[in-house]
Amino acid sequence: MTKTSRISGFFKLSVKERMNLVKDFSDLTDEEVNDIGGRLGIEQADRMVENVIGTIDVPLGVATNFLINGKDYLIPMAIEEPSVIAAAGNAAKMARDKGGFTTSSTGPIMIGQIQLVDVVDPFSARFGIFEKKDEIIELANKQDPFLVKVGGGAIDVEIRVVESKSGAMVIIHLIVDCKDAMGANTVNTMAEAVSPLIEEITGGKAILRIISNFADKRLMRARAVFSKEVIGGEEVVDSIVRAYHFADADVYRASTHNKGVMNGITAVVLATGNDTRAVESGVHSYACRSGVYKPVTIWEKNSDGDLSGTIEVPIAAGLVGGATKTHPTAKAAVKILCVKSATELGEIMAAVGLAQNFAALRALATEGIQRGHMNLHAKNIAISAGATGDLIDKISEQMVKERAIRIDRAKELLDELSK
Ligand code: MEV
Repeated sequence: MTKTSRISGFFKLSVKERMNLVKDFSDLTDEEVNDIGGRLGIEQADRMVENVIGTIDVPLGVATNFLINGKDYLIPMAIEEPSVIAAAGNAAKMARDKGGFTTSSTGPIMIGQIQLVDVVDPFSARFGIFEKKDEIIELANKQDPFLVKVGGGAIDVEIRVVESKSGAMVIIHLIVDCKDAMGANTVNTMAEAVSPLIEEITGGKAILRIISNFADKRLMRARAVFSKEVIGGEEVVDSIVRAYHFADADVYRASTHNKGVMNGITAVVLATGNDTRAVESGVHSYACRSGVYKPVTIWEKNSDGDLSGTIEVPIAAGLVGGATKTHPTAKAAVKILCVKSATELGEIMAAVGLAQNFAALRALATEGIQRGHMNLHAKNIAISAGATGDLIDKISEQMVKERAIRIDRAKELLDELSK
């Protein structure tokens, strides 16, 4: 039987029923199910960072309906904000009509920067470094034989002379194929290891040796078409395109537009134990690569009058090293995704970002964002009051109508309607 992530009424199930569905979909073991429901143990937390006094829990949900490159995915998302996960699943459901999401990427290539100062003749120094490029790459690759064995490692050197407040600096970029790692540890080790050789070649002094989070060689792309009939008509298509034009023309809006994208991306980055700050800084610097901060998605109307969306963002997320391999819940979240490579993971994150942005723009361009929030909030309150089945919708709709979304009102309505 082929697995499908197209599950209706997932939100109506109990947590246990949802978990059972996910367990079957992703072949989770009982231990993995336990890790998802459990907490990060204090001893493990104490090994992860310094000065530990506790842990903080964030809800972990699953967005349904994602069809990406013809494959069904359940998407684990860790986030404290209501509506985000439901909105992603809803957007994914609408995208299915035209085949879901299609992705591509540039591969897992990261940049290690070496800042070289006190170089009298920076342009000659640049050429001097180029002449020893093979030696530099060889030395870098000695730092991580395993990465080289699996087909990765340092592959190139790029050099710029950058004018700064303290004069000309030679900035060397060590280009590294990180394969399934996020890459920070490897790249930083390599940058530090080759610096003495670079100093020797140029007579300069290396100061900073560190990865760049502006990962513009690790770009993840996704696109999807949303049928006008499915999303509410051609007027909705036009309004979403105009909403995008607003973000393109105005940085105040672009910032919020991209925040909506990151609601989706960061939630998956966090769920899989990846570095949220690295991905956030990468995406925002990429949004600003022209010198003006722009939206990271583009929305157009295609020749059929349907809505066509694309996203291109740098995503440095890995499957090996770091919390992804040690945090029990993150490990189980990766298993839920059933991904085979870091690039597949990054492309999924881009697709989720696009879905999230679509959902926000559609809500904003039609009924506004608050109604959706209120509906979900009301449903949660109805469920908390003990409502089940049809009563959840009946009670929440009544509370929304009355603008009285409170547990005491939900209980009253439950009593009345159950009679
Ligand atoms: C809220 O978390 C995200 C939105 O503000 C995004 C947007 O405005 O596009 C709804």
